[in-house]
Amino acid sequence: MNAERIYIYKRYERFWHWSQALLIIVMMVTGFEVHGSYSLLGFAKAVSIHSLAAWTLLTLWAFTIFWQFTTGEWRQYLPSLKNVAAMIRYYAFGIFRDAPHPFHKTVVQKHNPLQRLAYLALLAVISPLIWGSGLLYLFYADWPRLGLDAVLSLESVAVAHALGGYLITAFFFIHVYLTTTGHTVFAHIKAMITGWEEVAPKH
Ligand code: HEM
Repeated sequence: MNAERIYIYKRYERFWHWSQALLIIVMMVTGFEVHGSYSLLGFAKAVSIHSLAAWTLLTLWAFTIFWQFTTGEWRQYLPSLKNVAAMIRYYAFGIFRDAPHPFHKTVVQKHNPLQRLAYLALLAVISPLIWGSGLLYLFYADWPRLGLDAVLSLESVAVAHALGGYLITAFFFIHVYLTTTGHTVFAHIKAMITGWEEVAPKH
């Protein structure tokens, strides 16, 4: 049976996804330099690029949150535990035996149940951790005025921020691997570039 083609990622969504990916890659590279993992641009330059990328990403998110709510696309991230076990079995075993994909992608349901959980974890766990600690870092000079110096230590904020950095790096590698598991190796990536995805016919 021939694969069907569906228009899945709208123009703004693709713009948002790739600019976010680029900014996060810049933040990972500069962040681990600030952390002391290696020396590439020099500490001061790494700090200023990291902060500039953070402000740019916050601006991008302001527009994206508006877009998600006005288009109703935010519903795509609502978690569902239905078929999660089937997805885990597929990624652990089925995929290596050419078993049929347990999820059929449609325009109204573009993420499989495991993707929904992963994106929700990114949004509800990793993002608050990394952004909360990052903003506290950025406004460290204002802590005494805000009374935060009595309740927070710079060390705990640094540990939380580094933990967030490791988690997002783990997300990044798992995410890139999983994007190659579509109908063909590049089916999902092509969809995120052109908007159109080839999906396997429904079984
Ligand atoms: C850390 C940086 C990244 C983050 C935070 C991120 C986040 C996301 C999110 C939230 C989605 C869902 C988009 C939606 O709801 O429309 C998504 C989808 C996708 N991402 Fe990323 N992404 C990142 C980097 C990348 C990279 C480097 C690639 C390329 C290899 C990539 C390829 C894709 C593809 C192909 C999809 C669509 C998956 C599908 O259709 O099943 N992403 N990403």
